[in-house]
Amino acid sequence: MASQNQLFLGTFVHSKALDELEYLHNAAVCVDTSGTIVAVERECDEAKAKETLLPRLGWDVTEVEVVRAKKGQFFFPGFIDTHLHAPQYPNIGIFGKSTLLDWLNTYTFPLEASLSDPARARQVYTRVIRKTLSHGTTCAAYYATIDVPSTNLLADLCLAAGQRALVGRVCMDQYSPDYYRDASPESALADTRESIAHIRRADPSMSLVRPIITPRFAISCSVPLMRQLGQLAAETQLPIQTHISENETEIRTVRELFPPSATGAQDDSYAGLYDAMGLLTHRTVLAHAVHLTEGEAALVAARKAKISHCPCSNSALTSGAARVRWLLDRGIVCGLGTDMSGGFSPSILAAARHAVLVSRHRAMGCYSSSEEGEREKLSVEEVLFLATRGGAEVVGLEKKVGGFEVGMEWDAQLVGLGMVDEEGKVSEQDGGGDVDVFGWQGWEDMVPKWMYNGDDRNTKKVWVKGRLVHERK
Ligand code: GUN
Ligand code: ZN
Repeated sequence: MASQNQLFLGTFVHSKALDELEYLHNAAVCVDTSGTIVAVERECDEAKAKETLLPRLGWDVTEVEVVRAKKGQFFFPGFIDTHLHAPQYPNIGIFGKSTLLDWLNTYTFPLEASLSDPARARQVYTRVIRKTLSHGTTCAAYYATIDVPSTNLLADLCLAAGQRALVGRVCMDQYSPDYYRDASPESALADTRESIAHIRRADPSMSLVRPIITPRFAISCSVPLMRQLGQLAAETQLPIQTHISENETEIRTVRELFPPSATGAQDDSYAGLYDAMGLLTHRTVLAHAVHLTEGEAALVAARKAKISHCPCSNSALTSGAARVRWLLDRGIVCGLGTDMSGGFSPSILAAARHAVLVSRHRAMGCYSSSEEGEREKLSVEEVLFLATRGGAEVVGLEKKVGGFEVGMEWDAQLVGLGMVDEEGKVSEQDGGGDVDVFGWQGWEDMVPKWMYNGDDRNTKKVWVKGRLVHERK
């Protein structure tokens, strides 16, 4: 919430369709004190906005805060990180040559367990929220740990910092170390309910923060635990997040641990297991989905479950190269995730550019026809769609965020690029990091330059629900 009505002026860029960005130049967007967009006006400079637009809204011009995008700046929807582990933030960049299962045991479980220390949890969670906001992430789907107080603290800190978030207490009652495991399905469920109740008390209307049911992944959850979490999701209508089909050893282990005879599943597939447990719903966010079979993709599509594509993580842990085009062609909604710290970067912009590169590696790889390879490539427009509108749909917020439309909420970032003057200089104050733009370059060049070379130096201001939550000084 902002204390004043706000008028944003300048260039606005957002996704119109999967492969199309819309550029609104010399435009005006009005945001009321609840953080809702109440007008989007093309060809409307400041004078016109003050003369006609604000009076039409019944707004007193003297009481409106005006925010102008300067030359080389534009407003862009906030990024949605559909998959990240808040407690793993201290480990980004630390994974050696490990792959998923040894990485979990060597690096991840010890760190997560250590966050039951409240002081450490506060330190790490405060920082991860600040860091992701500074990269333009206005909404994040967080995994916390198994510890209830620190999970609740994460939700409280998101609320206080103004970051939109889904926060999940991690459930895991088997195949993890003794020091970091739920004692039983019953205790996991009771702890999950406790955390859900806390988050609901903290934000009763779920205007910013909401709980999400979080079975870690099949290997670390018993059948009774998965079944009970499926029932809890049906009872509460809450979203679910988990991992699926990330790594081949993991998939093999799932097949060994959960034969259909023990689960009642139709087949021995990973997606089939989740479905039999009641975990594959239209509110389910499945991270990775690198090695899904045709049959599993059809099941995911039929259940309308969503996928979080985490290319930085998949490359870092050598998990594989997800087939995003193949998923999209099957009508599956996809967004992007950093998957910190499987992923090495807190930035969704980095995930977007890595998604482009992974798609190009697929195009170079396993195709007999170059036409098929060409189709595999994701464009700049497409990955920016995944980072905003796609991500919003993955977390069930597509009516609220992801674009600049009347009725949506103002979750946005002001992006600034380095405008090079005639002497070849860029002003210190407007510094654009690695993104230098020359006078003859148009918007269709500037946005790809930002996608490929941008970072938090370009993220000048960030708002969530109309509230300024980050400003780069
Ligand atoms: N599978 C189970 N837990 C994790 C995790 O923390 N990160 C990733 N990338 N995969 C997982
Ligand atoms: Zn993950």
